[in-house]
Amino acid sequence: MESSDMTTAAIIIRSLTKSYGELTALDSFDLEVDQGSIFGLLGPNGAGKTTLIRILTTLMRQSKGEAFIEGLDTGSEGRAIRCMIGVVSQENSLDRYLTARENLELHARLHGMEKRLYKRRIDDLLELMGLAGRQKDFPDTFSGGMQRRLVVARALVHQPRVLFLDEPTTGLDPQSRRAVWEYVRSLAGSSMTIFLTTHYLEEAEQLCDRIAIMDHGRMIAIGSTQELKDRLTGATVYEIDFAGQEADRYAALLGSMPCVLGIRQIENKVTITLECWECLAEIVTALSGAPVRRISLQERTLEDVFISLTGEKVRE
Ligand SMILES: Nc1ncnc2c1ncn2[C@@H]1O[C@H](COP(=O)(O)OP(=O)(O)O)[C@@H](O)[C@H]1O
Ligand SMILES: [Mg+2]
Repeated sequence: MESSDMTTAAIIIRSLTKSYGELTALDSFDLEVDQGSIFGLLGPNGAGKTTLIRILTTLMRQSKGEAFIEGLDTGSEGRAIRCMIGVVSQENSLDRYLTARENLELHARLHGMEKRLYKRRIDDLLELMGLAGRQKDFPDTFSGGMQRRLVVARALVHQPRVLFLDEPTTGLDPQSRRAVWEYVRSLAGSSMTIFLTTHYLEEAEQLCDRIAIMDHGRMIAIGSTQELKDRLTGATVYEIDFAGQEADRYAALLGSMPCVLGIRQIENKVTITLECWECLAEIVTALSGAPVRRISLQERTLEDVFISLTGEKVRE
């Protein structure tokens, strides 16, 4: 066996294709995810993220290609795969007639766990997710963020080797989003592999070891956050802070210059993306006499990467 085969991938995807009639939702998709890593799949609505997760979690069959979870074939070993994965689907699917704790107990029993095993485990998970005080309450009385945390806890009851989270924070307010993603982050460092999808760029940036960007069923880019940012080779981003009321007028002027690739304005601050830093000379000339407080070089974000790779803003 080649030495490269020795490093085990938790997830291997080869030329995976899924068509819904005429529409190709996944198009010859290839990917490997390392064991124990947090992997983020990023893409706008309709990119094909849920389709990919549904195939990996054996809820749906691919049209072509193959996928393996911990070496098991999603096509023929679905049962074994379902025993060792945890799934948080895009919609909360809690049983509203069971308390929070009973939701977890039912899941444990469906996975054939013995009571003496799952009792401790459920105590620990309720504690970890900050729900111990509400375990006797029904999910309908929970906030969106608490329901989401309960779904994550449920996916963890049987100690899965691979955890799939499909947009775990979509639809939550910023505070609940932060809470959910901090709980997810606290799971890192174990041997569990975490595969999550999101369309929030900053979330992927903060949580994931590696990120893939997909759109229209295809992989656009893959790497660490830093590697993806480095792909924006020449482009540099500057923020110009105007004094007084003239930001609007100068934003229009800057926006019309060919060396300005992108521009956005928040009140007195205008942020421009330039082809290269040398273009700054043209900008300074254009702004001579303008009430500029300061011009500062900005850190490039994953959003800049996304825009430069897809040529469009993230669709909400
Ligand atoms: N069951 C289905 N039947 C037909 N088209 C579907 C079905 N599920 C998803 N699609 C289409 O496939 C594409 C990918 O959808 P999806 O995987 O849900 O994307 P994402 O999760 O990234 O938003 C979209 O164009 C969507 O409309
Ligand atoms: Mg989806």
